[in-house]
Amino acid sequence: MSKCLIAPSMLAADFGNLQRDTEMVNQSEADWFHIDVMDGHFVPNISYGMPVIEAIKKHAKKPLDVHLMIEKPERYIEEFARVGADIITVHYESTVHLHRTLRQIKDAGCKAGIVLNITTPISVLEDILPECYMILLMSINPGFGGQKFEEVTYQRVSKLRKMIDDQGLDTRIEIDGGVTDQNIQKLVEAGADTFVAGSHIFKSENPIGTIQRLKALSN
Ligand code: DX5
Ligand code: ZN
Repeated sequence: MSKCLIAPSMLAADFGNLQRDTEMVNQSEADWFHIDVMDGHFVPNISYGMPVIEAIKKHAKKPLDVHLMIEKPERYIEEFARVGADIITVHYESTVHLHRTLRQIKDAGCKAGIVLNITTPISVLEDILPECYMILLMSINPGFGGQKFEEVTYQRVSKLRKMIDDQGLDTRIEIDGGVTDQNIQKLVEAGADTFVAGSHIFKSENPIGTIQRLKALSN
């Protein structure tokens, strides 16, 4: 399996000190910036959009992993690519012509991935998997940071790992929501290799140390 990656979620950063927190991630062992975009329709919360992503990009020295929690994401793909997205993931539940949306992401020069809500069956990915750089499995209901990890995630990861291996692919499996040093190893054992963590990192006393621990535990 590929090297495990850590993607701190900037949703949990201090927006008044965005440059400081971006530099912290630059200096840490983290691999990507995880950027949560919420529209108040697909999820009940509104986070931030293009200007804030552009501001992070100005200082970021690592790729931006942009997680779109918005209805009809196909309306904005080129815009997110323009402000600096490197990876764009869209929810299976948010777009009717998923295949076309993935192509659109790739045509915009980004890596493309699909996100599944907790109750969306893994089996829906069967035919579309070869088109994906990554699958993001939600381990909470999307919309807010700081929620409790849902245990059903482990069996979902195993199912997806089997599907990826059966098809001979090297698709990444990313987990988002409630990831901590308590569950990361069990997630790796189930087959995941990419981890988003927001509050666990930013609410800790030593974020750089917390990232280092997550990295060490997963590799
Ligand atoms: C929630 C977002 C997550 C969130 C994770 O909808 O997709 O990326 O920031 O936050 P924690 O790690 O605090 O659960
Ligand atoms: Zn996210």
